[in-house]
Amino acid sequence: MTEARTKITLPYLFEKVEKGEPITWLTCYDYPTAYLEEQAGIEMILVGDSLGMTMLGYESTLPVKMDDMIRHACAVRRGAPNVFLVGDMPYMSYQPGNELAVLNAGRFMSEAGCDAIKLEGGTAMAPRIRAIVDAGIPAIGHLGLTPQSVAALGGFKLQGKSAALARQIADDAKALENAGAFAILLELVPDRLCKIIKERAQNCIIMSLGSGPHAHGQLLIYHDMFGLFPKFKPKMAKVFGNAGEVILNGLTAYHNEVKSKTFPARENWFGMKDEEYESLQKMLAPKALRAAKG
Ligand code: KIV
Repeated sequence: MTEARTKITLPYLFEKVEKGEPITWLTCYDYPTAYLEEQAGIEMILVGDSLGMTMLGYESTLPVKMDDMIRHACAVRRGAPNVFLVGDMPYMSYQPGNELAVLNAGRFMSEAGCDAIKLEGGTAMAPRIRAIVDAGIPAIGHLGLTPQSVAALGGFKLQGKSAALARQIADDAKALENAGAFAILLELVPDRLCKIIKERAQNCIIMSLGSGPHAHGQLLIYHDMFGLFPKFKPKMAKVFGNAGEVILNGLTAYHNEVKSKTFPARENWFGMKDEEYESLQKMLAPKALRAAKG
């Protein structure tokens, strides 16, 4: 059943925080899934550069380009006109400088109808956040496990385990908040660090991906929660339904039914009236034959 949703805005999100109601956030990369996520009541959607791995089959997010992101973000916006839509800045679309960052953040807003952008990195990226926010674009920071820096981080693993590294992440969070980020995503950091960062935040929404229950809301990767990414299932992701298995069973059944000639069945095709069929045969018969038949 389709239900009209009210538009989710920044004040709405801060209202949720004020009331202590957790915010729901999911990744999404395509029109039909966006439609379903909006119908389910999901409040925020991230068109993540994880689409490089989940949708395009790259080994990492690094090959993803702005044009890839815009194409997918446009499709998601068409499917979910009312969610709070966040465009994820891909590798090297913002790192080189403030001007490039503002131009690419602006593309998410003007071409795809996004409500905000997200970018990875701590204190070093605070000037990018400041420039984007000064251009009137809401910005979200991303700390902890930041997949664009996976080589430097030494793999997809928990970040901020030691007090010293945790302190660095807490300082980075403050720097991003001071630069104007309205939200920060903490990916794969210990729950207690997430709690500390939330308690220190003054006007900033703290979201968790695998960083425990203390945040203002949760983010999950859609493909992980439905068993749709065959290469691995991160520990932090709960599988809410095994769509991958359902789809694989369906595909195998289709293959088998075509081979055994049980598909298509009579209800799966359309016939033609006898008189139309006979006229057609006459029309298609060779000229000489038609003349002989009169
Ligand atoms: O691209 C993405 O989906 C992300 C998540 C890993 C947070 O940035």
